[in-house]
Amino acid sequence: MKQIQKIMSFLCIFALFLSMAGCNTAQSSAANEDTALEQTEKENTLQTEPENKKVLVAYFSATGTTKALAEYAAAAMDADLYEIVPQQQYTSEDLNYGSDNSRTSIEMGDPSARPAISGSVENMEQYEIIFIGYPIWWGEAPRIISTFMESYDFSGKTIVPFCTSGSSDIGSSAANLHGLCAEDALWLDGARLSGSFTQEDMAAWIDSLGLDIQAQ
Ligand SMILES: Cc1cc2nc3c(=O)[nH]c(=O)nc-3n(C[C@H](O)[C@H](O)[C@H](O)COP(=O)(O)O)c2cc1C
Repeated sequence: MKQIQKIMSFLCIFALFLSMAGCNTAQSSAANEDTALEQTEKENTLQTEPENKKVLVAYFSATGTTKALAEYAAAAMDADLYEIVPQQQYTSEDLNYGSDNSRTSIEMGDPSARPAISGSVENMEQYEIIFIGYPIWWGEAPRIISTFMESYDFSGKTIVPFCTSGSSDIGSSAANLHGLCAEDALWLDGARLSGSFTQEDMAAWIDSLGLDIQAQ
């Protein structure tokens, strides 16, 4: 009888041990599954979150149209905004394209004209992407944009030109600016944007550029 009791006790302890071991295995495999899930979630987050690229929107605007769009662009990307301010402001007389003798007619007739800029961009090296906005003057970017392009080293940076105009397209204006800066700057085609663009239009245009920036 004692022998049977001994065997029964042994079987009970063995069964208890087996059930504890089973429980441990289930717990550790659940923990492993949790870790794998966390890892996958982490990987997915890394793949889908846009890179944190530092963006500058630089613009020149004589009568406010390009300025409004530059402000939309900066707001859409949470970018820094820089106004290219001429040392000598353009008066309405200067902007008279009906006169051959106006300041703009003279500057645009001279490809080597470089109107001076007041101030400068702080730490240009921190920016990876630079949007450059300007009005079309006589089919080209105002010469002050040439001054801007020649004032900094744009090596390795992505440049996105955009312009406003009465009706002219961006034409050769951006290509001509490209020729003024470092060869290894990456130039996007850019576009002429309508003066009636809204914040939403701007965000949609920026999204269409494929720059891995989430615009809003
Ligand atoms: C001197 C001068 C030349 C211009 N030349 C052109 C031109 O060739 N084609 C065009 O469509 N608009 C031309 N425009 C119109 C401007 O491009 C347009 O009004 C632009 O949106 C103004 O931008 P802003 O307000 O930012 O200065 C010219 C304007 C000025 C003052």
